[in-house]
Amino acid sequence: MKTTVIILSMIVAITAENLPNGFKVCKLSDPDIEKCISEAFKIALNVLANGDSALKILPIDPLAIDYMRINSSGPVSVTQEYRNMKIYGMTKNMQVFIKSFDVNTFAINIVAVFPQLNVTSDYEMNGRILLLPIQGKGKCRATYYNMTVTFDVEYDKYERDGETYLKIKKFIFHINDINDLKGYFENLFGKDYSLGEEMNRLLNENSKMIFNEIKPALEEVFKQVITGIGVKIYSNVPLKKIYPPE
Ligand SMILES: *[C@@H]1O[C@H](CO)[C@@H](O)[C@H](O)[C@H]1NC(C)=O
Ligand SMILES: *[C@@H]1O[C@H](CO)[C@@H](O)[C@H](O)[C@H]1NC(C)=O
Ligand SMILES: *[C@@H]1O[C@H](CO)[C@@H](O)[C@H](O)[C@H]1NC(C)=O
Repeated sequence: MKTTVIILSMIVAITAENLPNGFKVCKLSDPDIEKCISEAFKIALNVLANGDSALKILPIDPLAIDYMRINSSGPVSVTQEYRNMKIYGMTKNMQVFIKSFDVNTFAINIVAVFPQLNVTSDYEMNGRILLLPIQGKGKCRATYYNMTVTFDVEYDKYERDGETYLKIKKFIFHINDINDLKGYFENLFGKDYSLGEEMNRLLNENSKMIFNEIKPALEEVFKQVITGIGVKIYSNVPLKKIYPPE
């Protein structure tokens, strides 16, 4: 399994900024801080749907992925290339569960569920799936239902210009599961329409297996996006504005 992911990202400005307008702030003295953080997390995603120009954060709904390549072997031995990919729905009806939060180190473990993500992309693929040759080039679309993900983040603290900032020390991101995946590749096998339809049917019948092949690349995409946003926020916004004591 080999994956390549490219997302346009911008240079991080080094200035003391505020959190984007509309963000919810959770005070460390809040006895129910975990509930507050889970709300704040959902609100943050909604606020960032269109990005944030001050912090140079790109829109996340839709989330644009310039290029993604997946090269897998085994039952699905296919080279898949995706260009101009867009993921819709990261800010829609998301559920957030704070599994743990440490008020001293700010280490946090979150489980989140995205009920429905719609993906559109240009694709090109070549290889074999369940021993059958597959190849095509064109547009594709997919819907992921109830994608459950886990974030596990630890931080270091550091001082800059008399302010304390957080820096991500460890970031683990996993896609745990999906309930269902439906997809459609236009123009599989070029002019052979009925073979293309047959292959699309087979792919949807085996969508969990196909998903497992795409998963590492998707994890990489989300990891890059989330780390990118995290770095821009944590390196620009002092700790006391993210988690005020009172
Ligand atoms: C994909 O992987 C196969 C086997 O691992 C390798 O032979 C091939 O060169 C790779 N292709 C690309 C485009 O990376
Ligand atoms: C995904 O596509 C379906 C069907 O076209 C649509 O009903 C739904 O609103 C879309 N969801 C998002 C988040 O774009
Ligand atoms: C997604 O989860 C919700 C709530 O748990 C459930 O009602 C719904 O049926 C699930 N959707 C699919 C496609 O499994």
